[in-house]
Amino acid sequence: MSIFEYNGSALVAMVGKNCFAIASDRRLGVQLQTIATDFQRIFKIHDKLFLGLSGLGSDAQTLHQRLVFRHKLYQLREERDMKPETFASLVSAMLYEKRFGPYFCQPVIAGLGEDDKPFICTMDSIGAKELAKDFVVAGTASESLYGACESMFKPDMDHEELFETISQALVSSIDRDCLSGWGGHVYIVTPTEVTERILKGRMD
Ligand SMILES: *[C@@H]1O[C@H](CO)[C@@H](O)[C@H](O)[C@H]1NC(C)=O
Repeated sequence: MSIFEYNGSALVAMVGKNCFAIASDRRLGVQLQTIATDFQRIFKIHDKLFLGLSGLGSDAQTLHQRLVFRHKLYQLREERDMKPETFASLVSAMLYEKRFGPYFCQPVIAGLGEDDKPFICTMDSIGAKELAKDFVVAGTASESLYGACESMFKPDMDHEELFETISQALVSSIDRDCLSGWGGHVYIVTPTEVTERILKGRMD
């Protein structure tokens, strides 16, 4: 089994009209044994920028701490928040720095940029960025997430329809993956508010 699959994870981000959504499952396991059912893989960087980290749980936490530190230094120096594009380049550079002994994480970055244009992006463990206009997925459930998102996604959804769509895509995908599950965390971000919801799901 790959080191990326040890703890299990499902991560997805979707773009709507002037908004975006990012969601993950809640399971933390060691192979097939479940350790926790309330694990956080999605982190807020600032009000309009979120980071999801799939892969090894401990590396996700380390990478998150280092990224929060770098973003705080940026805020102090520049007296402003980082743009999502800039943050994506920072994550990419920090991963590539460890090219020959990488963090076992595949990040998903979602944010609202200038004039509140949504930005989503994913990358591999050595920071090769993959930009998308519609949705990005990562984690052990990524194969089933690709299928679900491909059939459920519509362009220009409002925040309510986006919540419905991303939740259905997540819940149906994690049912097809033994290593992720136990419900989900969903964040819907519009220019004026952030909504966090917890989804209940199958407990097996
Ligand atoms: C993830 O998997 C590793 C490797 O099996 C395990 O040692 C660890 O306890 C799990 N959890 C975290 C948070 O890394």
